[in-house]
Amino acid sequence: MSEPAASSPKEIIPVRIAGTGSYLPERIMTNHDLEKSVDTSDEWITSRTGIRERRIAAEGEHTSHLAAKAAEKALEQAGIDAADVELIIVATITPDTLTPATACYVQQHIGSLRAVAFDVSAACSGFLYALELARHSVGSGAFKNALIIGAEKLSSFVDWTDRNTCVLFGDGAGAAVIVPSTNGDGRILSCQLGTDGAQAELLNIPGGGSACPVSIDAPSDKLAFLAMQGREVFKHAVNAMKKAAIDAISAAGLTAKDIKLLIPHQANLRIIDAIVERLEINRDDVFINLDKYGNTSAAAVAIALDEANRQGRIESGDKVLLVAFGAGLTWASAIIEW
Ligand code: ACO
Repeated sequence: MSEPAASSPKEIIPVRIAGTGSYLPERIMTNHDLEKSVDTSDEWITSRTGIRERRIAAEGEHTSHLAAKAAEKALEQAGIDAADVELIIVATITPDTLTPATACYVQQHIGSLRAVAFDVSAACSGFLYALELARHSVGSGAFKNALIIGAEKLSSFVDWTDRNTCVLFGDGAGAAVIVPSTNGDGRILSCQLGTDGAQAELLNIPGGGSACPVSIDAPSDKLAFLAMQGREVFKHAVNAMKKAAIDAISAAGLTAKDIKLLIPHQANLRIIDAIVERLEINRDDVFINLDKYGNTSAAAVAIALDEANRQGRIESGDKVLLVAFGAGLTWASAIIEW
């Protein structure tokens, strides 16, 4: 795996997270539900991944609807009117449509008509890619605020007959509002991004793009579904997330002991345990909710950040480490002083 590419310079104006929000669809699909449709067991899924259940969006509930609901909660907590939002970045690999961007639908749903809106495609690392873009966009003074959202409706891109993948994923959305940090009231201390396109084949949705168009009449042998070489991805995930975490800690001038809470990508409990062991972070200082939601890709870190915030797991001045890994391959990390 290549060295992480982007180690960002200091922004001009420090920025902070002013509000977070999340939304999970109502329908719960348990491991026992999956036992009825594929050759699997609650015991296998729980022991290999830690996942017990996941949420599934309703018919007609698109990625942009999940995103808009999370966004409204984040804006409410930030005390910012939707009409005053200047930038919307949606991180997703399950857009409503290939074009326009899901961010355009979100703009419409929440009424942020002045905002510039676009999507980022970096799979499970997408929310942190959006965070870094927002940090520079607001930090440069080009935008007064930014609404960043990780949102996925993976249930539309999962082959429900493939036990290797269908047990892993779920739907959901999380959001955060980025504003200048004017009174020393928290700030984003560091962000690290990396990509290894040479490993693109390990985890992808091969059909549906220009390389392999897929139509409803000729679904091309399930090419529009998520395909993954799980064991290989697992190894890369542990190594890349560990390195990204160490890089973010050192770029912020901290040590692992300074971290109050680690919020890792929620793909597999065994991946999280391997990282925690190598980082020497106390297991009690790690936020985990994958048992309830499975892997929600770009939404996972965003949902976990909002839940940690609303559960009072983060207090003013705490240093929070976010770290993610996904298709691309991509990886990303950030340290936030709350
Ligand atoms: N139920 C029962 N058995 C299963 C299931 C299932 N749901 N799925 C696979 N198996 C079987 C396999 O067929 C295999 O059987 P075999 O030995 O007879 O061939 C056996 O279990 C072991 O399979 P492995 O793939 O070796 O299982 P592993 O322990 O690696 O776990 C998993 C698989 C959970 C996918 C793991 O590799 C993993 O978490 N990988 C990383 C996932 C990840 O982090 N993705 C990144 C982000 S996703 C994104 O970007 C969208």
